[in-house]
Amino acid sequence: MWAGRFLKALDKKADDFNSSIRFDCRMYAQDIKGSMAHAAMLAKQGILTEADADLIIDGLEGILKDIDAGELQFDMNAEDIHMFIEAELTKRIGDAGKRLHTARSRNDQVAVDIRLYLRDKASEVMALIRDLVNVVTDKAEENADVIAPGYTHLQRAQPISFGHHFMAYAMMLLRDIGRIEDAVKRMNYSPLGSCALAGTTYDTDRAFEAEKLGFDGITQNSIDGVSDRDFCVELISALALLMIHLSRFSEEIILWSSWEFKFIDLDDSYTTGSSIMPQKKNPDMAELVRGKTGRVYGDLMALLTTLKGLPLAYNKDMQEDKEAVFDAVDTAVMCLEVFTPMIATLKVNGDVTYKAAQKGFINATDLADYLTKKGMPFRAAYKIVGTIVAECIAKGCVLDDYPLEEYQKHSDVFAQDLYAEISLETCVGKRNSAGGASPSSVRKQVAWVREQL
Ligand code: ARG
Repeated sequence: MWAGRFLKALDKKADDFNSSIRFDCRMYAQDIKGSMAHAAMLAKQGILTEADADLIIDGLEGILKDIDAGELQFDMNAEDIHMFIEAELTKRIGDAGKRLHTARSRNDQVAVDIRLYLRDKASEVMALIRDLVNVVTDKAEENADVIAPGYTHLQRAQPISFGHHFMAYAMMLLRDIGRIEDAVKRMNYSPLGSCALAGTTYDTDRAFEAEKLGFDGITQNSIDGVSDRDFCVELISALALLMIHLSRFSEEIILWSSWEFKFIDLDDSYTTGSSIMPQKKNPDMAELVRGKTGRVYGDLMALLTTLKGLPLAYNKDMQEDKEAVFDAVDTAVMCLEVFTPMIATLKVNGDVTYKAAQKGFINATDLADYLTKKGMPFRAAYKIVGTIVAECIAKGCVLDDYPLEEYQKHSDVFAQDLYAEISLETCVGKRNSAGGASPSSVRKQVAWVREQL
């Protein structure tokens, strides 16, 4: 391509090292669409003849069709996807193909391609997250009346509707969608026409190209246009946060499906056996999602580090953006595609979660609230209940079966109605504060999330 300036060919290893077609070939459709818009703009502005532009656009259409159909293979010796398509076009239509790169550089070309590609991928990821939110919301609704322990410090804390726990993840995932949407807003500006770094002396119409490609407008500074990769960092950041959520959820799935918990059973199709231990049913999918979270953090750190200290404008270092952001997107897609059906098919063991909520003095706060509602200051009530809990532990019983006479030794405020007040059904059913853990609150959250979607 640059033969004029050089006396020798590039060393073979250096050539391979320099080449990005291995990973940027996936942007072929975006590259071709960008080139079509560019050719149309050049013709409209009288920079190219209509005849040449028609030849170019038809040629590009043919290339797109052939790649889609698997009839044209990428040449792995090409430097990148941009060079490959341009060479193929020239092979097919002759000299007109050589005019396409007028008033353009690969620097703005690649910047356009990544934006177009990630815009599509972001929509795909958001659709997958929406599917997951739907599944999680359905699970929550199904289990709104299932009572389970809620935890702090992984110690039984207060009883909740199990559906409430699921809805916490629905909220996180909704924010993930919001963050990706937000990243796309800033991504969706066209750098095409920034050229190498300084724009061009041709009378181009950047807005025309931008509109043809579905951008919301054009980038306003040509140096920034070619050197900005903020949108890649923003997208990977949003994906890293999504992965945090999937990883936390996975951790709970792993715990809940253990013999120690048995809160849930995972479907056979999303678990694996052991090569040696016949009894094993392992939550590999959840473990892998938890594990792959590290990859996405790595992708984020890799790109942040690549960009740090780069002088303006384009530097070849920036070719490293693609593998990081592609890997992050691929990983998120892969994880969501397995995670969602795994959640959809899991079975909740409501009797087990109920029994787990019965032990561990999970209704101690409610007993203190019982005294408080009868006029005792909360701190005094807290102290009395703490003493009673210690007595129960020593005697091997729980609050629900501790005799009234024992209670009354601590305070004459205690009466027979305390037992109804500390029953799990009351404790959960009455947690009706906005966003609280009661079944009716869960149903409100479910309705709210469905409305957001
Ligand atoms: N393959 C390059 C990349 O991904 C395309 C841009 C090359 N521009 C250049 N001046 N070498 O960044």
